Amino acid sequence: MRSLVVSPTAQEPVCLKVRELLRANVDPQGPLAASFANVERVLLQAQPQVVVVVLSPQPDRGIEILRQLRRLSSGHVLAVGQATDSRLILRALQEGADHYLDEADLESGLEAVLSRWQDRSETTNGALGQVMGVLACAGGSGASTLSVNLAAAVARDFGACGLIDLKPGRGDLAPLLDLKPGFTLADACLNVGRLDRAMLEKMLARHASGVQLLGAPQMFADIRVVSPQGVDQALTMARRLFPQVLVDLEDCFHEEQLVAFRQAKDVLLVCRLDFTSLRNARRILDYLRDQGISRIHCVINRYGQPGELPKEEAEDALGAKVLHYVPDDPKTINLANNLGVPAVLKYPNSKVAQSIVQLARQLCERRKEKEQPPRILAAAAAIL
Ligand SMILES: Nc1ncnc2c1ncn2[C@@H]1O[C@H](COP(=O)(O)OP(=O)(O)O)[C@@H](O)[C@H]1O
Ligand SMILES: [Mg+2]
Repeated sequence: MRSLVVSPTAQEPVCLKVRELLRANVDPQGPLAASFANVERVLLQAQPQVVVVVLSPQPDRGIEILRQLRRLSSGHVLAVGQATDSRLILRALQEGADHYLDEADLESGLEAVLSRWQDRSETTNGALGQVMGVLACAGGSGASTLSVNLAAAVARDFGACGLIDLKPGRGDLAPLLDLKPGFTLADACLNVGRLDRAMLEKMLARHASGVQLLGAPQMFADIRVVSPQGVDQALTMARRLFPQVLVDLEDCFHEEQLVAFRQAKDVLLVCRLDFTSLRNARRILDYLRDQGISRIHCVINRYGQPGELPKEEAEDALGAKVLHYVPDDPKTINLANNLGVPAVLKYPNSKVAQSIVQLARQLCERRKEKEQPPRILAAAAAIL
């Protein structure tokens, strides 16, 4: 585990002790060090899994630092200070510390916490699930329809699939699955400091297929609380729960969307064979390439409509190969969407359902061959 110790001065005896314990228990390379002044830069560069903030002898400044790094880090955050000051302990926990350790009893306290975290990460085999993003290049391309159907197909093959609706304000994955989530991405973001695997599990709405959904906020007032840090943390936790996590993306330029792109192994860019759709798709592909984001696969949805552009022109316009064509089948898709049951479950023999299952397998195939899927964890297994 990569670790970081943040303290006003590196020579404090408490700081030296923390470093020694981290090196002995979890970070043989030796922990990184940051002062209160340069913590942000070190944190963003190193992205440590464990951050320890030494509060003495400047507890107020230490609390400010805790608040700042809780927003920036999805790792474990520990505060170390005096056990006699109960107000300080409370403030540290409220600002997002996962644990507060008594500086006078570091040895047993720190070792106990670290071994618990290690046990937990071993339970997941240390392997994180993979993220697959789905982005429409224009409204009405079928990204949400594909997201729920791909998730249902993946859940059938892997036993479970995480699904995140990253379209705050216009998310419709819940109705497409006939679910009424009690919590949404807004709750995950509001609790970012405390959002661990167990908390995320409670926020997921379960579908009988094995799909578990973190829905988009339904109240327009909640949209503003969706933050990049919250999305990043929700995704990381979802990857600890599921071998595959699908994300229905809204766009490719807001920061809370880009964090999902960065975690994604593959992103499907969904378009139709019409001029405006292909033009948008090309702009998106060029933009993402400039951002250093690759692994984008073009998928043509609603293929076979009268008057659409020929396939060959599509690849020319996109400057990229098309990975897959999903046929146009308004009858099947409308019936399934209006019932709130993915077409791959309701009409598995339809051509459109079979095409989506094939796409899901194509995307998961390499992974299945090369790696063992991470163990499906208790919560996911419970619904099987
Ligand atoms: N393969 C398909 N065949 C026919 N209709 C489709 C297909 N995929 C999606 N649709 C329809 O297209 C419309 C837009 O789909 P939706 O999934 O909401 O798109 P998006 O999320 O990209 O805005 C819906 O009316 C849906 O029923
Ligand atoms: Mg949609």
